[in-house]
Amino acid sequence: AASLLRFDERVVIVTGAGNGLGREYALAFAKRGARVVVNDLGGSVSGDGSSNRAADTVVDEIRAAGGTAVANYDSVVNGQAVVDTAIKAFGRVDVVVNNAGILRDRSFSKMTEGDWDIVHQVHLKGSFAVSRAAWPHMRKQKYGRIIMTASTAGIYGNFGQANYSAAKLGLVGLSNTLAYEGAKYNIHCNALVPTAGSRLSASVMPEDYANAMKPEYVAPVVLFLCHESCEANRGVYETGAGWVAALKWQRTEGAKLQSAESSISPEKVRDVWDSINDFATASTVDSMNGTASLAASPEANVQQFDRKQALSHRFPTTS
Ligand code: NAI
Repeated sequence: AASLLRFDERVVIVTGAGNGLGREYALAFAKRGARVVVNDLGGSVSGDGSSNRAADTVVDEIRAAGGTAVANYDSVVNGQAVVDTAIKAFGRVDVVVNNAGILRDRSFSKMTEGDWDIVHQVHLKGSFAVSRAAWPHMRKQKYGRIIMTASTAGIYGNFGQANYSAAKLGLVGLSNTLAYEGAKYNIHCNALVPTAGSRLSASVMPEDYANAMKPEYVAPVVLFLCHESCEANRGVYETGAGWVAALKWQRTEGAKLQSAESSISPEKVRDVWDSINDFATASTVDSMNGTASLAASPEANVQQFDRKQALSHRFPTTS
């Protein structure tokens, strides 16, 4: 049907596409006409070693099904090389799905600097490097779709994943800012918070649960977000098991820390602590304007400032 979401003429880079979620994305994009760069370093879950096999296997699968794909075996940390493969093979890049990932789970007391660094290198630096290399191409063609892969561990925290959760929430921050900077070039960036059974999640997921959380339940969400018809930008989408939802921050009503009767003090903070933390009347927050203007507004320092007015004050957008 004419309403099918197709990717003919589009060039899609999927990092870490040799296994799990990335493999599923690569197969799904190719099935709908995209030319796909299947990137995978081919190492272990903990990021040791490398092999061409992971990427080659998926490229073979795509070609066997009549699709178009090339392999790239570089680490995402070497983002330029990943993008060069796309340009050399297909002459452009339209979509980047930053998906490559490893785990070095350990309780915080046992976590080494090496565990911290390698996880940040692959997830955060790798997503930066590939996106940064693709960016000039996307700006020039005034089109791009980028996915950053976050995690519930980053959003909510999780035992044994201090390194991983920090890097994963870092990717939400990166996504939010690229969304602003890319908007006028029709480059959209969104963060994905997936859950799926894979070799990566095998250590934290019971087997029957993993079987019900197939990567193919996540791929359709990624495809829609990366389609030219999708207007979503600066979103955070939690998805798995055939379900998807949007996430936003919430802010409580808050409390005033000074008044005609009392000045600001730690005791005042203590006294209004319950209302500071009362989410019953919380609202969602969509930009930093509210916070920044509260801090910067001269009204913020007067006794009877109108909080609503202060919040509606908008900073000039920097671009
Ligand atoms: P997976 O282990 O099945 O696949 C990850 C792939 O990335 C592997 O093929 C691996 O070789 C590749 N890779 C690792 N380091 C690389 C590097 N430096 N350069 C290029 N490729 C590299 O894992 P899975 O579960 O498919 O994870 C995909 C993404 O989704 C990861 O970013 C992960 O953190 C994230 N995620 C997964 C969840 C799940 O429930 N499976 C939950 C939340 C996030």
